[in-house]
Amino acid sequence: MKYNKITQKVIDELIEILGKKNVILDKEKMETYSHDETPVEQYANMPEVVVTPTTAEQIAEIVKLANRELIPITPRGAGSGLSGGAIPVFGGIVLSVEKMNKILEIDLENMMITVEPGVVTNDINPPLEEHGLFYAGYPMSLLTCYIGGNIAHNAGGGKAIKYGVTSRYVMGLEVVTPTGEITQLGGKLVKDVTGYNLKQLYIGSEGTLGIVTKVILKLVPLPKTTVDLLVLFKDPKSAIAIVPTVMTKAGIIPTSVEFMDKLCVKTSCEYLNEHLPYQDCGAMLLIEIDGTREDQVNEEAEIIGELCLEKGAIEVYVADNYTTQERIWSVRRDIAEAFKVVSPHQSLEDIVVPISEIAKLIPEIEKMSEKYDILMPSYGHAGDGNLHTTLVKNPKMTMEEWYETEEKALKEFYAVIKRFGGTISGEHGIGCKRKPYMPIVTDDVQFDLMRKIKNTLDPNNIMNPGKIFDL
Ligand code: LAC
Ligand code: ZN
Repeated sequence: MKYNKITQKVIDELIEILGKKNVILDKEKMETYSHDETPVEQYANMPEVVVTPTTAEQIAEIVKLANRELIPITPRGAGSGLSGGAIPVFGGIVLSVEKMNKILEIDLENMMITVEPGVVTNDINPPLEEHGLFYAGYPMSLLTCYIGGNIAHNAGGGKAIKYGVTSRYVMGLEVVTPTGEITQLGGKLVKDVTGYNLKQLYIGSEGTLGIVTKVILKLVPLPKTTVDLLVLFKDPKSAIAIVPTVMTKAGIIPTSVEFMDKLCVKTSCEYLNEHLPYQDCGAMLLIEIDGTREDQVNEEAEIIGELCLEKGAIEVYVADNYTTQERIWSVRRDIAEAFKVVSPHQSLEDIVVPISEIAKLIPEIEKMSEKYDILMPSYGHAGDGNLHTTLVKNPKMTMEEWYETEEKALKEFYAVIKRFGGTISGEHGIGCKRKPYMPIVTDDVQFDLMRKIKNTLDPNNIMNPGKIFDL
């Protein structure tokens, strides 16, 4: 694909649309916008200009300009992504929604909230608390990520077992299409089968089909009581083995069943200077149950705790107050960040298999770790069949050896996952990081349909090009 470089004339036009303060050209400032949370030396690429619009109309004008001049646009949320989705792989314009960060409306009668895409996900809930409502999306990066990015990737997170993923809550979207039209998809309607479900097409499209400028989210009643169980196992295999049982045999839908092997817990604890009792165990499950009645939640927690002990858990710790729960969850949430600090050369994976198959993963991961002579710590949303196995560069390897090993190991890993009926990304998306591996899990018919959609909506291929698949 041939794109044009940004000229002074284009810069002048951008300044006219946005004002000088919303057009960033300073190299040092632009550096932040050259990467997401994937390894910088491997994936980063500099934009030619960064823009920070505040309205859909401005975005529409920028998109029209980009079409006319054949300049790529990379939409960007908080940059907390893990697949390179927000990286401007062809340079051009990075369009950051960071200044579109307002909560526009809390509609109590419809139990919905309308927000701009640059609202930090964690900022959605505080104003809802007094109304006994909450937004149930819970990505692990919620303290920093934006709701716009959650929509771009259809983010999952730690409460998907009970509450589902982002798409369940997106009632309406305002989007700017790749040709610069503004339109509303969906709305405050619980039921709506009027034509194709374009709203769902946009959710998870990784910014390749346009830019979300407004979001209507469904809210649910805030659970009155929550219990967390920290369940210790002697090894990862026995911890994972119990997950399908917890999900199906107890007759209870837990909110979360999170898995962490010992190395993950240790790394995050050391990073946070926190203490969890990981010394004598090989892995942990963090199981959450929430609900309206305290006695019921306690009873359900007890049933699950006993089931775990019956199936070989070493110990079950109960956390029933907010402070302890938040301490445990912050250890879980910060594993990715902690590993990034300790081992910057890594590949953080996001595979997903049917829950019935998840127990088979651990022996495969152990085999591969030995074969490729790399650490492969694992953690993640075991109750969703979604694991964040991380391939970590062996310090003895040169970078060249590491990249070679990484590619070989990933191919083998993904093939195993496919054999188990799984796929290569449950929540982080494909971006540019997993694009080379898409053919492992995508057939020609699917590629053809996706290309036709992309070509129709974005005839000049200016909207986040170089992501998910090649045209
Ligand atoms: C997590 C991120 C990496 O679950 O998805 O921690
Ligand atoms: Zn995750």
